[in-house]
Amino acid sequence: MSTTQPVQGAVPPPGCPAHEGHAGGSGPEPLYGPAFAADPARTYASLRRQGSIARVELAPGVPASLVIGYDTALEVLRSPERFAKDPRRWKALADGTVPPDSPVVPMMMYRPNALFTDGDEHARLRGAITDSLARIDPNALRGYVEHSADSLIDEFGPTGEADLRGQYGSVLPLLVFCRMYGCPPDIGEKLVVGMSGIFAADENSEAANAVLAEGIAELVALKRAKPKADVTSWLMAHPAKLTDEEMGQQLTLLMGAGTEPQQNLICNTLRLLLSDDRFAGDLAGGSMPVEDALDEVLWSESPMANYAVHYPVHDLELDGTRLREGEPVVISLAAANADPRLAEERHRGGNRAHLAWSAGPHACPAKSPARLIAAVAVEKLLDRLPDVELAVGVEQLEWRQGPFHRALAALPVRFPPATVPAAATEPSGASSWNPSTSPSSSTPPVGTSTQKQPVSAPSDPRHWWSFLARWWRGR
Ligand code: HEM
Repeated sequence: MSTTQPVQGAVPPPGCPAHEGHAGGSGPEPLYGPAFAADPARTYASLRRQGSIARVELAPGVPASLVIGYDTALEVLRSPERFAKDPRRWKALADGTVPPDSPVVPMMMYRPNALFTDGDEHARLRGAITDSLARIDPNALRGYVEHSADSLIDEFGPTGEADLRGQYGSVLPLLVFCRMYGCPPDIGEKLVVGMSGIFAADENSEAANAVLAEGIAELVALKRAKPKADVTSWLMAHPAKLTDEEMGQQLTLLMGAGTEPQQNLICNTLRLLLSDDRFAGDLAGGSMPVEDALDEVLWSESPMANYAVHYPVHDLELDGTRLREGEPVVISLAAANADPRLAEERHRGGNRAHLAWSAGPHACPAKSPARLIAAVAVEKLLDRLPDVELAVGVEQLEWRQGPFHRALAALPVRFPPATVPAAATEPSGASSWNPSTSPSSSTPPVGTSTQKQPVSAPSDPRHWWSFLARWWRGR
């Protein structure tokens, strides 16, 4: 084992003799820390020595069983009578063995929403969500994404450089969600700032949470008084008759469950397109449809890598592994997708049998809008900045630590400064990135300057937040 490797050097890799006590040893393998973030595939490969279910630690002192086999994952996801979602069954949290301030608790603790309920209660809440999401007009959604994308690109385009994670992929979904949920500017600003603050997970997170709760409560009150054609009003009008409390909980879930994976899907797809030799040098020609790149990312860099936490309702045995009642069983959507058994099928063109959206009764209900948002966001960026390229080597890109997501920390790029704002240009034809879309849904390419200019200093974050605030108030 090399001890001089960057990042991995801090923690011995799986399989390393110094790693005794993890895979191959006696203790569970950690899904946290820099080594896992830098190379999760290596951890999954090592865990396969234990079979289709492996013992892991989600955070220090938080053990779980991780399902890494594709068929076993499907069996758990499709067996709600044996595997429940309600985290009030989690014994180690209930008896204090897992401290309530463990970093994984916010993603796993009970909240009265569709994600954490079972049976009839889940069916009622989920029914309201799926029926409301089904009413979204894809053309209108495409318009929201294009408008939001243009605003963001107009802001950083003239500088010739950007962090596509911080300045694009992270912000765009929030702007789009606010339109989807019918937020006027003042409430939208609270949701965007609140949700971004929570995901920043710093000392301001609590204040951000309060801002978010205030925004959601105001949105519910507004739509009770003046319903319109938006997801919030449709949820409210649903025969499930959600109370104000239930409305607030489901809206928070929709914003929360959507934000992180949506950001990751956009950024991981941009990373693939900008780094893989198969697409290099021909971005402007659009030789590789964005849809194919999305499929590849959903298979190989699943935006939610390990989640869909379930709890056995009684002690049971699955694939030779003893699973105990009330102990978390986490599905590795990423490892299941990489199951060697699927090696050939995975590469069959158009195969979408991956588990990135999960499966069974709790599978993502927003698959269609989420995919559309990601596709348009990527197309728009590449159409507006056709000569965009990574500002660092792909191997230098860092991934955020944590067991659940597959999230880039930043995606620095450079490009010839785009001098013409979107609003000033005329549509001139279909997007080269999406040649098959109808004229009504195409993304018009927009003029860009091809003159290279020196790369300027990165944007000041304060400037960025004031831009977001202006965006909400002014447009
Ligand atoms: C518009 C954006 C999105 C929204 C509003 C959204 C919303 C939701 C909701 C409400 C659930 C809970 C469903 C239930 O428990 O019955 C869910 C689950 C899930 N979503 Fe999404 N989602 C979005 C985007 C995405 C994306 C881009 C991905 C990844 C490709 C994703 C992956 C998942 C997964 C894996 C689950 C299952 C989680 C679990 O079982 O614990 N979602 N989503």
